[in-house]
Amino acid sequence: METTVQDPKRSAGRRAAEMVENGMTVGLGTGSTVWFTLERLGERIAEEGLELRGVPTSRDTEGKARELGLDLVGLGDVSEIDLTIDGADEIDGAFRMIKGGGGALLREKVVAAMSRREVIVVGANKVVERLGTTFMLPVEVVPFARPAVLRSLVDLGCEPIVRQAGPEAAFRTDNGNEIVDCRFPEGIAEPEALEAALAAIPGVVESGLFIGLAHAVVIGTEDGGCEVRERDS
Ligand code: A5P
Repeated sequence: METTVQDPKRSAGRRAAEMVENGMTVGLGTGSTVWFTLERLGERIAEEGLELRGVPTSRDTEGKARELGLDLVGLGDVSEIDLTIDGADEIDGAFRMIKGGGGALLREKVVAAMSRREVIVVGANKVVERLGTTFMLPVEVVPFARPAVLRSLVDLGCEPIVRQAGPEAAFRTDNGNEIVDCRFPEGIAEPEALEAALAAIPGVVESGLFIGLAHAVVIGTEDGGCEVRERDS
């Protein structure tokens, strides 16, 4: 039996799967909410013969999508993606996001930037007034550069924590890099400025700040329904 916590994710994830049209190239995000999108896409393929080409944003999604019968292609096989459906850890009123809770932020951002439309699927608990207030900001870092990057992150006003895979081992992304989770005591006051500052640190591969990439958000609610919001511009 599903818990109430899972219900908003399920309704949002499945609702977004209905936005996929026949013949589309579809970016497949990562995470537990997108899992419901993958599940519904698998059902649509079986039920109505829906044809799509999926571009996975992680090895995890690649494995799940294959199990569900989705056709997959790599980035080298596409020049543009029609629609990407992805989750988020936080999203604010300007559709700015924190992503990377699952460590897939780099591939997710590459795929988002190639997408004509990016739809975000979340539970209502992910919608925030200010980014960084409920979730730490993940930053993907080259392992060699970690000590220098940590000092630079402290200078930016955060408490950086190296994500661990176990007691002795740092978490590694699909790209062989590490993730540093950054806690901002007052949240993130200026996301655009912070994104630029992070990008300027040598050894930082990418940050989990996603700005100007989402076009719509599907917000699941605890009653099993969902609300679709479109970005103004
Ligand atoms: C993966 O690295 C993340 O960006 C996910 O998209 C994000 O953490 C949302 O995951 P859930 O849907 O599991 O909350």
